[in-house]
Amino acid sequence: MKTDNFQRPIISLRISITNRCNIQCFYCHHDGIIPKKYEMTPQEIERIAKIAKNIGIEKIRLSGGEPLLRKDIVDITSRISSLNFKDVAITTNGTLLEKYAAQLKEAGLNRVNVSFDTLNPETYRFITKSNYVDHVKKGIIKAVEVGLYPVKVNMVVMRDLNHNEVWDMFQFCKDNGVILQIIELLKAESCPDDDFFDDYHYDIGIIEDELTKKATNIKTRAFMQDRKKYFLEGGEIEVVRPMDNTEFCKNCTRLRITPDGKLKPCLLRNDNLVDLMEPLRQGASDETLEGLFTQAILNRTPFYGKC
Ligand code: 5AD
Repeated sequence: MKTDNFQRPIISLRISITNRCNIQCFYCHHDGIIPKKYEMTPQEIERIAKIAKNIGIEKIRLSGGEPLLRKDIVDITSRISSLNFKDVAITTNGTLLEKYAAQLKEAGLNRVNVSFDTLNPETYRFITKSNYVDHVKKGIIKAVEVGLYPVKVNMVVMRDLNHNEVWDMFQFCKDNGVILQIIELLKAESCPDDDFFDDYHYDIGIIEDELTKKATNIKTRAFMQDRKKYFLEGGEIEVVRPMDNTEFCKNCTRLRITPDGKLKPCLLRNDNLVDLMEPLRQGASDETLEGLFTQAILNRTPFYGKC
C-alpha cells in the first residue's frame, strides 16, 4: 500500500468513465472534472485497474457523468470485478438502474450509491431538468432486490429546495432497506457558477444536531474522510461535509481518474493531474505506469488544512 506525504494511505480509486449525463443537475461538480468529450475503452480501464491493484488500491468506484450511459458498462464492471478488489461500487443517478441492476450484480458489482435529492417530482424537475423520480425509485428498489449491498442514496441538501425533505427521504430509505447519505453542497471549480452556492448552501450541522439527539448510536468512519454515521429508528444516516473540513481531507484515502485517463489527486484541484493514457497508449510498462501512480500520490496535498 502506498502512502502520501501526509501519512494518508491510498486505498480507493474513483474512475470516471464518461462525461455524458442524461440529467442536468444545476449544482453538479462533474466529479471535479471540467466537461470534455472523451471515453476510455474497457481494455484501457481494466489495465488501469490492474496497475491500481499492484500499487495497493483496494476499492474501485465507477462514476461519471452517468456511468450507466455507457453501453459497455456490464463489460467494464466484470473486467474490474475479476481483479478481486475488496470492493467494486458504482455511483449512478439511478435512471437506468432498474434495467441494469441484475446484470451488474451478475458481473460482480458489490454496491451502488444512487444520487437522489428529492422524492418530489417538481423539485426533481427543478434540480435535474428531467422527470425520472419514478425511474430512480424503481432502480433503487431493484438494486436492493438483486442483492447489491449496501444500497445508498446520496442526497445533496439545499436550502429551501429539499432541506425539509430529509426525514421523508430517510423514511423512503428505511422502508426499502437503504442507507441515506446526506451531502452538504460543495463549491468546486468545476461547478457551473458561484451563485448557486450562495442561493442554496445549507449548513447541515443543523441536521447533524438533530441526528445527535435522536441517534441510538454514532460511529466515525476513520478511513472514509472521518464521515459520521448515525443509527436511529431502525435506519442509518451518513453525513458528508467536505467543504472547509480539514478532517475530511486529513482522512481522504482516494485517488481519481478522469474520463480521459488522467490521475487526479484531489476532487477540488485540476492543476496537478498526471496523464496515464498517453504513456499507456505508447506501450508503457507496468513499472512506468506504477511510477505515474506514485507521482500522483506524491502530488496529493490536503485541500483544506495544512500543507
Ligand atoms: N456539492 C455536493 N455534492 C455534489 N455532487 C455533485 N455535485 C455536488 C456539489 N456541488 C454529488 C452528487 C453525487 C456525488 C457523486 O456527488 O449528488 O451523489
